[in-house]
Order: sequence, then structure tokens, then C-alpha cells
Amino acid sequence: MELVIASNNVNKIREIREIIGGAFEKTYSLAELNIHCDPEETAEDFLGNALIKARAIREYTDKAVIADDSGLMVDCLGGAPGVHSARYAGEPVSDEANNALLLKNMEGRSPRTAKYVATMVLLYPDGSYKVGTGEVKGEIITEARGKGGFGYDPYFYSYDLQKTFGEATPNEKNAVSHRAMALHDLLKQL
Ligand code: IMP
Repeated sequence: MELVIASNNVNKIREIREIIGGAFEKTYSLAELNIHCDPEETAEDFLGNALIKARAIREYTDKAVIADDSGLMVDCLGGAPGVHSARYAGEPVSDEANNALLLKNMEGRSPRTAKYVATMVLLYPDGSYKVGTGEVKGEIITEARGKGGFGYDPYFYSYDLQKTFGEATPNEKNAVSHRAMALHDLLKQL
């Protein structure tokens, strides 16, 4: 079976190929198939949004599709920003504005424990699907450390790595990340 990776993010595409690509005859990125598709993520949970992405791509192909949705969940904020992580501070999307709002909303609150979570959906041509989930735990620190990663990474201190995701190399992050865990969870089911 051939697989389409529903992402335009080169890091994600590489990570997905490394972990799960071997289970398929051939893998394609959206760019390789010239598919331009960016549906609105309107669901209230990660699985719902991953399915929206996967099903939107299936309109363009009869291959299997893998799509993910992920976010940051902070305990003292009741799990926010959650599914709203990408647009936490509204439009236009800005990591800087999201991080500033996160720190402001957390002022004076505890615990600062948090997790990144990811849901991966593998949608088959017949419409059936398998789901993998993963998470990585840490806490939100008050000052940025490191310039690596993206999004909330300079403020996310990983318990596994004993440093922020901003300070980690891509390989270090990929070894413990929520996306890697979700991919391994999916791989187990194939
Ligand atoms: P998506 O799953 O690519 O749509 O990501 C949703 C949002 O969650 C991103 O825009 C980030 O704000 C946040 N997020 C998800 N994974 C990570 C990560 O590994 N590092 C930093 N932020 C992340």
C-alpha cells in the first residue's frame, strides 16, 4: 500500500518516514503529489481534527493517508491551550504572541506541569482508520531557553531530556516527542 503524508512540515514528514515509512510500499508528501489543501480544523478534540485533515486529503487520492493533530496542555489552565494551541492568541498566528499569552495566563498559578499530546490517524482507502496517541511530560518555565524547535518549545522543559525542547537538537526531541510516541503507537497496530 502507498501512503500520503498529510503535512507540509519537512520535520514532520521526515519523522513520519523514519518511524512508519517502512511499513508502506512508498510514501509521498503533499508537495510531491501537488496537493494543496488546508482545511479548517473545527473539531473540539485532536482526533476530530486529525480526521478532518486526513479526509480532506482523501478527496485528492486513493492512497492511504496519515494525518496528525497536536497541542500543548497545561495543568493549571485546565488543559488549555489544547486544540487551540496554534491560534491561542488569535490571528495572525504568532509563536511570540502565543507564548506571551500563555505566560500571562499562568501568572500566579500552579502547578506549571504540562504535556504535549499528539494524535495520528491512518486513514485507509475504504474509509476505515487506525489511531495512535502519544504524549510527553514537562513543565512551563518563565524564561525562554534555546532557539530550536518551534511554537512553545523554548518554554517547555522536558523531564525526559532535562532541558527545554528549544535547547534540544532535532534528534533529541524526536527521540521523546509526542509525535514519535503516537507514531510508535500506530506502528504497533500495523
Ligand atoms: P499541529 O498539530 O501541527 O496543527 O500543531 C498544533 C499546534 O500545537 C502548533 O501550532 C503549536 O502551537 C503546538 N505544538 C504542537 N506540537 C508542538 C511541538 O512539538 N512544539 C511546539 N509546539 C507544538
